[in-house]
Amino acid sequence: MTVDTAAELLAWYDVHRRTLPWRAPAGGGRADPYAVWLSEIMLQQTTVAAVGPYYRAFLARWPRVEALAAERDDALMSAWAGLGYYARARNLLACARMIVRDHDGCFPQDEDALRALPGIGAYTAAAISAIAFDRRAVVVDGNVERVISRLFALQTPLPAARSGIRRLADRLTPDTRPGDFAQAMMDLGSMICTPRRPACPLCPLRAACAAGPAGDAELYPMKAKKAAKPHRHGTAFWVEAAGHVLLVMRPPKGLLGGMRTLPTGPWSEDEPALSGAPIDAGWSLAGRVRHVFTHFSLDLTLACASLPQPVDIVGGTWWPIESIDAAGLPTVFAKAARLQIGDRAPMAGG
Ligand code: ADE
Repeated sequence: MTVDTAAELLAWYDVHRRTLPWRAPAGGGRADPYAVWLSEIMLQQTTVAAVGPYYRAFLARWPRVEALAAERDDALMSAWAGLGYYARARNLLACARMIVRDHDGCFPQDEDALRALPGIGAYTAAAISAIAFDRRAVVVDGNVERVISRLFALQTPLPAARSGIRRLADRLTPDTRPGDFAQAMMDLGSMICTPRRPACPLCPLRAACAAGPAGDAELYPMKAKKAAKPHRHGTAFWVEAAGHVLLVMRPPKGLLGGMRTLPTGPWSEDEPALSGAPIDAGWSLAGRVRHVFTHFSLDLTLACASLPQPVDIVGGTWWPIESIDAAGLPTVFAKAARLQIGDRAPMAGG
């Protein structure tokens, strides 16, 4: 593909681009770097549809980086609940504070300087640099990998193909409108060059594509066979007393670090039964939920007990069940809590 083909893509983008809440209006206006950064962090591993309401709520509550930087950790974690990958929320706050403390509240434009900030890797640095500052940067996400694999009918499977894809993406990226080019590639990947049943006849790049006209687009990108994810079992404990349920705070580092959850024992290959129960009680089992994390899947059994009144438990908080929504439970625990409370209390669909 040549720069002319990049021009074809930009012409298509000018007509067909998605209207997304974090985008500057077509044909003018510069995106706010804070808003671009916020959207890109949320969009890491999360779909555009899921991010929309969170993005709007965050910008309404914290319209500027200074406001976000001044927020309390637990308020931020609660607002993030349901988006998953909670390390992003911790890094979001650390990054906002660093921008205010070390950068006078202004995001740097340069990719290397952006990469030095918490939670910003190669992709996100390139995306912010291109989209917020219109600097030439090579932006490669999953959509771009798919588009390029098909354009060039790349035979090397992922992940080995990544370095070659990056070189090709570099060759394609124009000097003018690199931010629009990056977003045009994303839109092409999500609207036309989709993982399944791509709409090749509508594609602005079909003349240049090695796979589409041959009817082979779905074969790409080729993928190496994946090892199966390990599976684990755990038990979460729902103990209630006088309309309150016992919640604990997880340690700051590690999976779901810093999040408020139900008490839970070890997550292991075998069923841990009642090990790790917060108190001796007459536990009964209320059911089981399944959740898939990045590196393993989990069957979480919910064990329930009730006490006549709350007792002191080190590190525990008795939380009113009717406002369990405000506890910001991560998704797997929200699913488990649902087993017990059914429709007793409203809960955000996190
Ligand atoms: N995914 C990640 N960043 C995006 C963006 N800026 N527009 C659309 N999808 C995206």
